[in-house]
Amino acid sequence: HEEHPLLDAGLPSSGLLGKFDLRQVQRGFQVYKEVCAACHSLRHVAFRDLKEIGYDEGQVKAIAAAWVVEQPSVNPETGEPATRKNTPADHFPLVYANDVAARAANNNAVPPDLSLMTKARHDGPDYIYSLVGHGYVPQPKELLAKFPDAATPKGLHYNQYFANLNIAMPPPLTSAGQVEYLDGTKPTVDQMAKDVAAFLTWTAEPNLDARHGAGLAVLGFLLIFCFLAWGAYQNVWRDLK
Ligand code: HEM
Repeated sequence: HEEHPLLDAGLPSSGLLGKFDLRQVQRGFQVYKEVCAACHSLRHVAFRDLKEIGYDEGQVKAIAAAWVVEQPSVNPETGEPATRKNTPADHFPLVYANDVAARAANNNAVPPDLSLMTKARHDGPDYIYSLVGHGYVPQPKELLAKFPDAATPKGLHYNQYFANLNIAMPPPLTSAGQVEYLDGTKPTVDQMAKDVAAFLTWTAEPNLDARHGAGLAVLGFLLIFCFLAWGAYQNVWRDLK
């Protein structure tokens, strides 16, 4: 958007050598769990993956078992459809049985899976931060005066960062303190939006740290190689003018 350039989430994972701030990623998981997970799935992530962001085995087991949506299953006695508690090996369960159910619950829109969302949109982390942290503003009066038909339809919400400006998602982050952080960070809307963007950056690219680390090693090698090549060149041509 030319009129509304994305805000910079300032995540430590961005940039050439960025690394995740695991405390922030954990806070973002908490926001996902307590707010976004009501509507959005995370189908590519398994509970045990949470160990990579600093949760231990016991915590992962507890998080999986307590997750509100259980895995679809079959009762082995009766063959009837059933559910069972999630285990660390399970992926995060889908929120809705299918798109019809998703639409029925969301004013005919389907909340997309968020696992890869930071890759699916340009400047994904900044986009998510902007969209949920600073996107929901009153519809500009000038716009309405000029284009009365552009009034946000009932059931949709004006969001200045959404491509067509009217989004089916109600503002998910509405007030400070919506989640209670354990590390003492103040849960302002801005902070929660940054943190959930950090978490979703991790779900889409859990090996970002390793990739950045490899890049640094390659650059270091190339630098040393340059000196070696230059030295060899000097040596080989030493006797010639
Ligand atoms: C769409 C993030 C909470 C319902 C989206 C999109 C993102 C997102 C990135 C895609 C926008 C796009 O297509 O460019 C989040 C985050 C949440 C959250 C980070 C938590 C902080 C919720 C909740 C609900 C919800 C709680 C349901 C009450 C939807 C729906 C859409 C959507 C229905 C589709 C919108 C449309 O296509 O018009 N969300 N969401 N979201 N979300 Fe959420």
